[in-house]
Amino acid sequence: MQDKFGRTIDYMRISITDRCNLRCVYCMAEEQQQFLPESELLTIEEWERLCQGAAQAGIRKIRITGGEPLMRPDVVSLVHKISQIPNIEKVVMTSNGVGLAKVAKKLKLAGLAGVNISIDSLERESYCRLTGRDVLAEALEGLSACGSVGLPVKVNCVPVVGENEAALWQLAELAEQYPIEVRFIEMMPLGEGAKFQPIANDKILQQFQERYGDFVQQEPDKKDGPAIYYQNDAFCGSIGLISPMSHSFCHQCNRIRVTADGKLKLCLHHPADLDLRALLRAGNQAEQIKTILQEAVQQKPKDGHSTDESRPMWRIGG
Ligand code: 5AD
Ligand code: SF4
Repeated sequence: MQDKFGRTIDYMRISITDRCNLRCVYCMAEEQQQFLPESELLTIEEWERLCQGAAQAGIRKIRITGGEPLMRPDVVSLVHKISQIPNIEKVVMTSNGVGLAKVAKKLKLAGLAGVNISIDSLERESYCRLTGRDVLAEALEGLSACGSVGLPVKVNCVPVVGENEAALWQLAELAEQYPIEVRFIEMMPLGEGAKFQPIANDKILQQFQERYGDFVQQEPDKKDGPAIYYQNDAFCGSIGLISPMSHSFCHQCNRIRVTADGKLKLCLHHPADLDLRALLRAGNQAEQIKTILQEAVQQKPKDGHSTDESRPMWRIGG
């Protein structure tokens, strides 16, 4: 699927629930949240039909996100169904890792190809302050369970001024010890994120170089998406920098998103939505969804800078 700027769109991120068991300060406020009633979430059958249509349209990789995708009790069978769809080459997930230890093996057997685990700090105190929950140990158990069952992992961290600034090097050292990618994502001023101050990735890289010596930028690979990876001789793994704030990567964007209530989002920063749930519930089959997506993708904006999205990440799918 090509959009009108010549970008190939082959990656779809689906938010299967807006619920989460954490309350990361930059994402979800602690006060009572208005979560979607279950009837407004897509069913497994609806996700399956939608993904079949997407696969026919040219989507090859699907990422399951939330909220926290493990909050859905049927997540394993969803992974199983989606990974069976012809032309879907890869089904991956983004999770906070809490509760992952229990299902890592089942997810792997269901066909999951990898998990990005969000861990903003390895210090219990700052993790707790940032996520609102004292569950660092569970998240780390989830991470190591993936290692035991052979599920590839990447660690994602969002650096926040005055919160986890001093703990970033410990996360970097995960990549020193293990052959994994530890990625630092610049916080975007979406929803709650606007209340906090991001740290520019250039500054983080500079601090790492001062501490560990040179990091060499790896050849960019299309499959890396917006992440730029760096290697250091003493590290088994690598450091990834995702810098939406300081370096635009819209020109190489290959993704579309579907929100927890089944709205198509052509750009993270673009509020215009197409109600796929209504189309699915009106009985449209995969073949029709395919055409609908192919047409919709022509409206994908050139970049996200001119538009205004104020909804929080947990509604959109991070
Ligand atoms: N900016 C950048 N990343 C964010 N995430 C949540 N909110 C924001 C934001 N405002 C991250 C989470 C997780 C991923 C799903 O998105 O920390 O790593
Ligand atoms: Fe939950 Fe992820 Fe939001 Fe944290 S960032 S509250 S883990 S959805």
